[in-house]
Amino acid sequence: MAEALPSSPLAPAADIAVHVRGVDKTFGRGEAAVQALKGVHFDARQGELLMIVGPSGCGKTTLLSVIAGTLEFDTGEVDVFGSALHDLPPSEITAFRRRNIGFIFQSFNLVPTLNALENVSIPLLINGLGRKAAESRSCQMLEKVGLAGRERDTPLQLSGGQQQRVAIARALVHEPRLVICDEPTSALDRDNGRRVMELMREVARAPGRCVIVVTHDNRIFKFADRMTEMDDGRVARVHDTHETYDGSHH
Ligand SMILES: Nc1ncnc2c1ncn2[C@@H]1O[C@H](COP(=O)(O)OP(=O)(O)O)[C@@H](O)[C@H]1O
Ligand SMILES: [Mg+2]
Repeated sequence: MAEALPSSPLAPAADIAVHVRGVDKTFGRGEAAVQALKGVHFDARQGELLMIVGPSGCGKTTLLSVIAGTLEFDTGEVDVFGSALHDLPPSEITAFRRRNIGFIFQSFNLVPTLNALENVSIPLLINGLGRKAAESRSCQMLEKVGLAGRERDTPLQLSGGQQQRVAIARALVHEPRLVICDEPTSALDRDNGRRVMELMREVARAPGRCVIVVTHDNRIFKFADRMTEMDDGRVARVHDTHETYDGSHH
């Protein structure tokens, strides 16, 4: 058979972690309407660290929010580890997200009145772990991101880079199958950026897991298994290795 078949409209392949088909999202209405996603097709596989790149405003954060189930979309299908988010009621999406998804926000979203240890413990407590066990696991996670000794500091006592690493620890601590990161190294120096990406790669390699990273940071492109290039609300190109992506024009 000479021609490739069009991608199947049926169930996604078994190794697919995230399957997005024909998703549209418009913010606002009338004159002020902004079409942020225009029929997006997107896949992320189990076992991979996938990067999403593209110019500011092209829809990267919007796509991450749709995949995380924190933003309603207009049309299309979003399937995460076999759960069809477009068919689930909001309460079930929330329950699914708490168990299965870790999200690192561009703005960190730490609770300012809680210290680092308490911030990182949140996903574990929400998922029903006792406080002692939660704090012990959170301590280990803070150590992994290079923050041993800063457990009792509140966000205001930490630098931007330290806050970002608390946010990363919080996204990983409950070992979610899918980790979604929006610019996870934006406030980090070279060494901490590498440390965090090595951790992400280890997470992505664990059985049945997947890491999706939106980034502009060309220092970390080499950690990508594949790269998805977005432009103007669409996926423009998918690279099977970071080596074929020329990020120099960004
Ligand atoms: N809550 C919102 N309300 C209105 N417009 C938005 C909102 N969020 C994003 N947009 C618009 O949608 C487009 C895509 O934004 P975004 O997904 O944040 O892009 P990126 O993350 O690639 O920089 C932009 O034009 C942005 O201004
Ligand atoms: Mg963004």
